[in-house]
Amino acid sequence: MKILLLGSGGREHAFAWKLRQSSLCEQLYIAPGNAGTASLGENVALKDTDFPGIASFIKENKVDMVVVGPEAPLAAGIRDFLEADAELSHLHIVGPGKTGAQLESSKDFSKQFMLQYEVPTATAKTFTEETLAEGEAFIDSMPTPIVLKADGLAAGKGVIITPDRADAKEQLRTMLGGQFGEASKKVLIEQFLDGIEVSVFVLTDGENYVILPEAKDYKRIGEGDTGLNTGGMGAVSPVAFADDVFMEKVETKVVQPTLAGLQMEDISYKGFIFIGLMNVGGEPYVIEYNVRMGDPETQVVLPRLKGDLVAAFASLKDGTLHSVDLDVVDQTATTVVMVSGGYPGSYPKGLPISGLEGVEGPTVFHAGTAEKDDHVVTNGGRVLAITGLGNSIQEALDQSYAGVNAISWEEMYHRKDIGQDLLARKG
Ligand code: AMP
Ligand code: GLY
Repeated sequence: MKILLLGSGGREHAFAWKLRQSSLCEQLYIAPGNAGTASLGENVALKDTDFPGIASFIKENKVDMVVVGPEAPLAAGIRDFLEADAELSHLHIVGPGKTGAQLESSKDFSKQFMLQYEVPTATAKTFTEETLAEGEAFIDSMPTPIVLKADGLAAGKGVIITPDRADAKEQLRTMLGGQFGEASKKVLIEQFLDGIEVSVFVLTDGENYVILPEAKDYKRIGEGDTGLNTGGMGAVSPVAFADDVFMEKVETKVVQPTLAGLQMEDISYKGFIFIGLMNVGGEPYVIEYNVRMGDPETQVVLPRLKGDLVAAFASLKDGTLHSVDLDVVDQTATTVVMVSGGYPGSYPKGLPISGLEGVEGPTVFHAGTAEKDDHVVTNGGRVLAITGLGNSIQEALDQSYAGVNAISWEEMYHRKDIGQDLLARKG
C-alpha cells in the first residue's frame, strides 16, 4: 500500500515508525512531516489542511491510504472532501468525517451526545453572550472549583479551572467576549471532577472496536504538575490504577454507549477515539473526546502494539476490524518530551541538536525538528520525545532518560519527574 500520513509532530513520527514495520507498507509519504519522518519515508511539502493539494497528490502518486494525525484536518472535513471525489472511491481514510469530528471540535456537541447516550460525564450547561446573566447565576449555584470550557478548538487553552466564583464570572465574560474567537462564542460551565486522569484509545470501524493500551499524560510544564499547560511533556503506558475492573467499566459504560450513540446518530466513524477520563472513586467519567490519537501518548501506545497497524487500518473501510489482531506487549513504555527553552511561551527555532547519533536503546521520536545544511535543528516547542520500553516503569524510564541525557541543544528543557507519581503509588 502507498500511504500518506498527515501531520508533523511526535505522534506522526511514531505512526510513521509503526506503519513502516508492516510488510503491507510499500511507500510512505508524510505531509508535511519533520526531520525524523524523513528517514522513514518521503516528506511532502503540503499543509495538512490543503485539501485540494492533498487530493491531487493522492491521484498523482496513486496513494491507497490516508492516515490523519491531527484534529484540524478532521474538524475541517478532510474525509468528506476526499469521499466526495469519485476518482478516490478506492481510498482508505483513517479518521472520522466532519460530523463525527465534532466529538472533539465542539464541547457542546460532545456534552449533549454524552448526556443523550448516558455516557458518564460531569454535569454542565452551555451559555452564550445572550445568556451571560444565567451563566453567572449558574456559577453561583455550583460548588467550587468551577470549570469553564470554550466550545470550540482552542489549541489546548480553552479550559479554565478556578476556585473563585468572582474569577469564574470574569473569565466567563472574557471568553464569551471573544477571547478564543469563534471557539468561545459558547462556553460550558462544568462540575469539577476530583480524581485521577487516564487516557483510553479506541480504534473502530464503526461497529467493531479495539481498546488500545491506556496511557497517562503529563500536561504541565513544571515538575510536580505545576505551571502552564503544554501539549504534553511525557507519557506512560500502562497505567496501574486503570486495572481490569476499571477498564471493564470503561468498556461497558463508556466505549460501548459511545459507539452505539454514533450508530444511532448515523455517524459512520472509522478511526481513533481518544477518551480523556477521570477515575472518580473507581468510576470512569469522560472529560473529553478527541477524534485522533494523543501526542505524546502515541509514542507510548504504538511501541506496545505487536500487530500490524496497516492491516488494522485497511480493515476499517469494509468493517472487518474484528479479523485483525493488535496484540499488546506486556511491557511498560515511557516517553520524555524535550522542549525548547521558553515553551509553552515563545522560544527560538533553528538551534542545532547534538547527540542524536549516539543514542542507543530508546526510540527517539522527532516532533518539532527540521533539517538544515545536513544537520537536525529545532523547529518547534516540543522537539523530541524519547521512548523507553522495559519490564517495569523504572526500566523504561532509565532508558528514556539515558536518551535524554545524551542529547542537547541550547536551553533545552525536560521534566525529570515523568512516571514518578506512578512509581510512588506502587509503593
Ligand atoms: P481538556 O482541554 O478538555 O483536555 O481539559 C484540560 C484539562 O482540564 C484536563 O486534562 C483535566 O485535567 C482538566 N479538566 C477538564 N474538565 C475537568 C473537570 N470537569 N473536572 C476536573 N478537571 C477537568
Ligand atoms: N496529550 C494530549 C493530547 O494529545 O491531546
